[in-house]
This record gives sequence, structure tokens and C-alpha cells, in this order.
Amino acid sequence: MKRAFSGVQPTGNIHIGNYIGALKQFVELQNEMETVYCIVDLHSITVPQDPKELKEHTLDVAALYLSVGLDPEKSIIFIQSTVPAHTELSWILTCHSYTGELSRMTQFKDKSREKESAPAGLFTYPLLMAADILLYDAQFVPVGNDQKQHIELTRDIAERFNNKYGETFVVPQYKGTKVGARIMALDNPTNKMSKSAENEYSRISLLDSPIKVKKSIMKATTDSDNEIKFDEENKPGISNLLTIYSVFSGMEVGDIEKKYKGCGYGQLKKDLVEVVNDSLVDIQKKYNEIRKSEELIKILKEGREKAQTISQKTMERVKSKLGLVRF
Ligand code: AMP
Ligand code: TRP
Repeated sequence: MKRAFSGVQPTGNIHIGNYIGALKQFVELQNEMETVYCIVDLHSITVPQDPKELKEHTLDVAALYLSVGLDPEKSIIFIQSTVPAHTELSWILTCHSYTGELSRMTQFKDKSREKESAPAGLFTYPLLMAADILLYDAQFVPVGNDQKQHIELTRDIAERFNNKYGETFVVPQYKGTKVGARIMALDNPTNKMSKSAENEYSRISLLDSPIKVKKSIMKATTDSDNEIKFDEENKPGISNLLTIYSVFSGMEVGDIEKKYKGCGYGQLKKDLVEVVNDSLVDIQKKYNEIRKSEELIKILKEGREKAQTISQKTMERVKSKLGLVRF
């Protein structure tokens, strides 16, 4: 049986980019293979976090996982810090990787650029991510395309380890969506939609009110020729809106172009507001039921038990290959 593993950071503002690039795939894969999904709280402390908010955001993401359609009967859902093997393997991988390869990671370069001195955790971040994936013998990692480089590094480290000690790790593959692996910011379609951008209208969060969704879409940056055509290079703004429309409506981009032939951007935007709000209403209704329920903690505890069983087996294998004394 094949297995997929992925994780999302509990940093608030889970947006439709996260949904389209990652969460939607998580749900689809549940019916194709074993699926393990984590809330990666230890990754989020690579930058300063308010402890109270971190706790709330961790449970928020867990509730969102369930609200978008993850089913605890099908998927293992757990919090990264509740399974100690993640940090344990991460150290072992740190000893099998090079500072040169870590310093080439674009996410590290972006995140450390404006800082006078960057926390070491930002630098070793991809090794904790590699540990997450390799612990579960995952063949597939469903993520947005900003994470592709981290998966490549994970593959390199897994292969290096296997070559040195004999077959130990499954070498994983990046799994991206055909449509929407990189959703762009609404206010500037040359940047990716991000949780941390200052302008809140640059993104649509899954928990946004209908009014906020409307404002964000109506304000979205487009071009001035008013022709509704998918052309990412020359018309990134309208192409991004078409992608979002396609994912939330289930219509092909070509059919949407046909539907709006001769119409202006205003009409497309107005309809897109409805399409997005219709989907978010369902997610938010479920979210409000689950977020405060005791069921949520029960699911996370069960997830932890299952994750622990799998990851401990991997750790035993790794430790014995390395020559760490076991008794
Ligand atoms: P993060 O919040 O950084 O943990 O990201 C969660 C998931 O969402 C990862 O798989 C990312 O690759 C994906 N993701 C983040 N931003 C975008 C975006 N703008 N478009 C598509 N996928 C994204
Ligand atoms: N680095 C990923 C992100 O920022 C989150 C993540 C951590 C992850 N560990 C992972 C994704 C393991 C996939 C698999 O989006």
C-alpha cells in the first residue's frame, strides 16, 4: 500500500492557496492510499510565536483539516510535537547533510534576508521536514510548489543515507496539483499568496467572512484590457482568478473563458465572490461544530498513537543501521 505524508504550519490565516495547493489534495488522496497528515508546530517556532496563539492555531488547523474533509477513519491526523521521533530523526539527518545544500534553500534565503541574524532553526528547517516525511516511509508528499526544493533535498538525503548504510528510507516524490500549485497574491499576482503578507486583502483565509471575501476579490489586481483569457505570463491577475474559479466551481478553465466571453472583469469577479463564498460557508459550518468539541482532542490522541507506532519502527531501523546501542 502506498502512503502519502504532509504537514501544514499552525501560523493562522490558512488561506485558499493552502487549500488549493495542499489540503484539497490531502482529501483526494485519502481514497487512493494511506494518508498521514501532521500539524507541524515545531516548524512554526523557527520564527517567534506567542505561546497562547500557537496553541490555539494548532487546534485551529486540526479543526480545519477535518472541516475540509479529512476523515480520521481514513487518515492519521496528529500534532508533530506529540511524536518525539520527529526531532530525534531530525538530528540524525542533520549529521548527514551539508551546510552548502541548506544554504541553497530559497525559503531560507527569503526568510532570513531581512533579519540581522537568523535563528539556526530557520536554517535546519528542511531537515525536520525531511525527518517528518522519512519517518513514515511516504512515497508521496502532496504540497504546493514552493516546497518542491525541500522535497528534492529530502530525496538527496534519503539516497545518501541508503547508499551509506543500505536500504533504510523510502525515497519520496513531490506531488503537486495540476491546477493551482501556486496561487498568487490578489493584490500583486507576481507574489505567491502568503499567510504573512501585511495586506489582508492579498489573501482569502478559509475563515474569512463573506464581506471580506467580496472586498478581497473586488479589489484584486488585474490588467486593463478587460479580456477574460488564461495567460499566466501576460495576464497573471486574471489567470489567478480563473484558477481559483476553476477549483471552487469544478469547471474547466476553458469553459469559464467561454462562459465569460465578451463580459468584463467586473462580472467575473462578482460571480467568483459567490463561488468562493458558497464553498467557504460549508467549511466554516463544519469548523464551528468541530473546533470546540472534545472529539477534536480524541482524534489527535488517536492520531498520535498510530503515528508513534509507525515512527518508532523507523527509528529502530535507523538506530540499528547507525550502530547506536539498542537494549
Ligand atoms: P505552510 O502554511 O507554509 O505550512 O503551507 C501549507 C501548504 O500550503 C504547503 O503545502 C504549501 O506548499 C502550500 N501553499 C502555501 N502557499 C501556497 C500558495 N500560494 N499556492 C499553493 N500552495 C501553497
Ligand atoms: N515546510 C512545509 C511548509 O511550509 C510544512 C511541512 C513541514 C511539510 N513538514 C512537512 C510539508 C512534511 C510536507 C511534508 O509548507
